[in-house]
Formats: sequence, C-alpha cells, structure tokens
Amino acid sequence: MRKRHEENQDTLPGKVIEFLTGAAMVLDEELKVRLVTPGVHQLLGFEVPLGASAPRILCGDSPKRPLADALASGKPIQAVIPRPISLEETRMVKVRSAPLPRQGGSQGWLLLLEESAGGSSQPELFQGMWTQEPRMKELFRVLRRIAAADVTVLVRGETGTGKELVARAVHDLSPRRDGPFRAINCAALPGNLLESELFGHVKGAFTGAHKDTPGHLQLAHRGTLFLDEVAELPLELQAKLLRVIETRTVIPVGAREPIPVDLRIVSATHRSLRREVEEGRFRADLMYRLRVIPLFLPPLRERKADLPLLCEKICAEMNTTWPRKIFSLAPAALAVLERYDWPGNIRELRNVLAYAYAIGEGPTLQVSDLPPELFEQGPSPEQVWVTPPSPDTSQPAEKRRIQEVLERTGGNRERAAKILGMSRITLWRRMKHYGLSTSHEDES
Ligand SMILES: Nc1ncnc2c1ncn2[C@@H]1O[C@H](COP(=O)(O)OP(=O)(O)OP(=O)(O)O)[C@@H](O)[C@H]1O
Ligand SMILES: [Mg+2]
Repeated sequence: MRKRHEENQDTLPGKVIEFLTGAAMVLDEELKVRLVTPGVHQLLGFEVPLGASAPRILCGDSPKRPLADALASGKPIQAVIPRPISLEETRMVKVRSAPLPRQGGSQGWLLLLEESAGGSSQPELFQGMWTQEPRMKELFRVLRRIAAADVTVLVRGETGTGKELVARAVHDLSPRRDGPFRAINCAALPGNLLESELFGHVKGAFTGAHKDTPGHLQLAHRGTLFLDEVAELPLELQAKLLRVIETRTVIPVGAREPIPVDLRIVSATHRSLRREVEEGRFRADLMYRLRVIPLFLPPLRERKADLPLLCEKICAEMNTTWPRKIFSLAPAALAVLERYDWPGNIRELRNVLAYAYAIGEGPTLQVSDLPPELFEQGPSPEQVWVTPPSPDTSQPAEKRRIQEVLERTGGNRERAAKILGMSRITLWRRMKHYGLSTSHEDES
C-alpha cells in the first residue's frame, strides 16, 4: 500500500507525465487513480482525489458507461465523454488510454485527457477581460445574470486580477449604466479625508470646508459606487456606511438632514472579509450587507492556461502603440511565463510585456526579452535548456531592472516608470534608495 502513495505528481514519472501531456491520470489494476496531473483538475473543474475510482469520476453514476466497461475489459480505448462543468455548460472531454505495466507485474492504465475540439476552450471576451478558462467563463455568466438584478456585489481577488474591470462590468451591464460610476479606494486616504470624500461635508464643517461638497455616496446617486479595498475602511466609517445602506440616506459631515440616495455598491478587497470580521477589524453586520453576492477572481497562477491568449491580446494592443511589433511567442519564453508565479497578476503580465517591447526586437517574444525576476523563483526544469540573461546577482533585482529600463529608454523617466508599472515619484524614490543618479531631472 505504501508504494502507491509514493506515486504522486511530485515523483519523477509524475513530473515527466505532467510535462509531456497536459492532463493525465495513472490508474492501477482496480482502475483507481494513483497519479493525477494538475491539468486534470482544470479540465474537469474539480480536484480528483488519489484513490478515487476513475470510471466513477469520468462517467458518474450513469447506467450507460461504455468507457468504464471498455477499461474493465482491458482494451485500449479512445472516447469522448460529456462532462457537465456547470448547470449550463457541458464540456466534451477526449479520453485515450494506454496499458501501463506496473510494479509486481500488474497492469495499470495511463489515461490522457484533453478537451475535444468544438468544446468550450474558445477564447471569450467579456467587458475587457479575456479568458478561455472555464472558471472565468462561469464567473462571466454569473456576472451577466447578477448585473441586471440590483444586488450588492463583493469582489475578492489579489492585486491586478481585474477587480475594477468586474466592478465596471457590473455597472455597464446594469439598468444603472446611464447613471454615474464612482470609484473610491478606501486604502488610499486617511480616515478623516476618506469620511469627507465618501459622505461629503457642509460649509464650515472643519477648517478648510469653504463650501458644501457632496461625497461619493451622493455623487453615485442613480448609479454605482465602487468601494475598492473596502476591508481598509476604519471601524467608525463602517458604522456610518452601514447606516447609509440601511436608511438609504447620507448625512454629510457637519450636516443634520439626511439626503436620500439610490445607489448600488460594488466593493472589492484582496483580503478575506470573514477573517477581518473574526479578528475584530470589520463589522459582521456590514460584511453581510456587502457580500450578498461574493465573487472570486482567481489569481493568474491558477489560470495559466490563459497565458498565451492574454499575451496575444495584450500584444495586439501594444503593437498599436510601440515601434516593436510582436506576433508570436517563443515556446521557451512561454515556458518561462508559465513557470512564474505572477504575484502582480495580469497587471504584472502587462508590465512584463511592456518591458519586452522596450528592450527587445523582432516579431517573436524571446526568453531574452523577459525581465530578470522571472528567473528568480528557484530552480526550474526550463533553466536546463533555456538560457536566461545572466543577471548580476550582487544587486537587488529591482535595482538592476530599473537600470536596464532606464538605459533602454535613454534615461526617459516617464517612459521607464510606465514600463516598470510605477509612478514617476515612486521610480524617483526607488532610484534614490538604490543610489542611482537622480540629479539631472526635476522632481515635479
Ligand atoms: N481577463 C483580462 N484580460 C485582459 N486584461 C485584463 C484582464 N483582467 C485584468 N486585466 C487588466 O489587468 C490590469 C489590472 O486590472 P484591474 O485594475 O481591474 O485589477 P485590480 O484587481 O483592480 O487590481 P488592484 O487590486 O491592484 O487595484 C488592467 O490593465 C486590466 O485591464
Ligand atoms: Mg483596482
């Protein structure tokens, strides 16, 4: 029994299989799953547990199970089976099997799975977001449905995953689309300023309040208010916001009379609001008001199948603004992109591509066009056959990258900042921090 458990995706055969095929499973003589590659999870839309019965996983409880029967008969097979991945969508999955001699002379199976042509791996564009991943497509379907209903939506996702795009989509597809869309980042302002920005103030409410000023809650009347980084809202403002939601009125700072407002709130956070509630930083009653419909945006590292499509679409867009034109992706470069973890998600992918436009040449995106930090996530199989630019490791990656981009842009800090995905001020601060010359340009 022990041996069986050793045969998982981390062992050498597991790695080889994962590398050579996308989605594959190794079955033992009882047709139980002994090895499963991550591609299978993506294709089937759920985690296949080791030890599960393969016929059951693939055919469910259906009484007609030709695939199960064929496997049981010991003959190699090729079949296309329907897999429901949501209430509305069924994906056709092609399954091929090959007999596999196993230890102790017993007979197992290698099952190769792929999406059958005509299935749903077609790229889909939804409100500025590209995907071919079923999870994202499912999210788009949910978005279409809930946009029309006037429900409150909470989007959770890491930085750069598209939370703001989702918020806009909810607004643009809703009956409020002709009304205002206002966005405010709760993490960007200190408490008292945020209060005045959100709720507004009347003349004389505090020093500097020269006239009555409506806040975002009022300005979003008949439209949508996007509360970005809502978990950072201070507790006192949480109480005030709850009151607005409950009474549908706003009282500006320094005012007495409540003003009626009609708005839909879409909020976003990179944190778990539930955890914030548990730790006493967020009011439970407000959380329940905000997360009527919780949506989760998967990080890019969990939807790497989208990488070629995203690169293609972002390059098509960048081809119109950069002198360089990129029409294809070298397989080795794609391998590097797929190895990387993408902490900054799609925004970071955009920055990486912008870097390639700035430093490289030619119609194919090459490994040598990629920034050094893509090679700094520990040893990877690709490093055996891909030769990345060898960075000078005595300096932090960021400093080297800043230097490189500055060189390529001929010292143009505005373009360099754009490529690096930071503001000019941040770039200036980072340059100062690393002791890079900042003298010959103004600090405006
Ligand atoms: N599916 C997608 N296809 C193409 N571009 C995308 C997609 N998702 C996001 N983007 C792009 O990625 C960038 C980041 O998106 P967005 O600003 O919506 O992320 P965010 O989650 O709000 O990030 P942050 O938490 O840092 O504010 C934008 O340039 C956006 O256009
Ligand atoms: Mg955002």
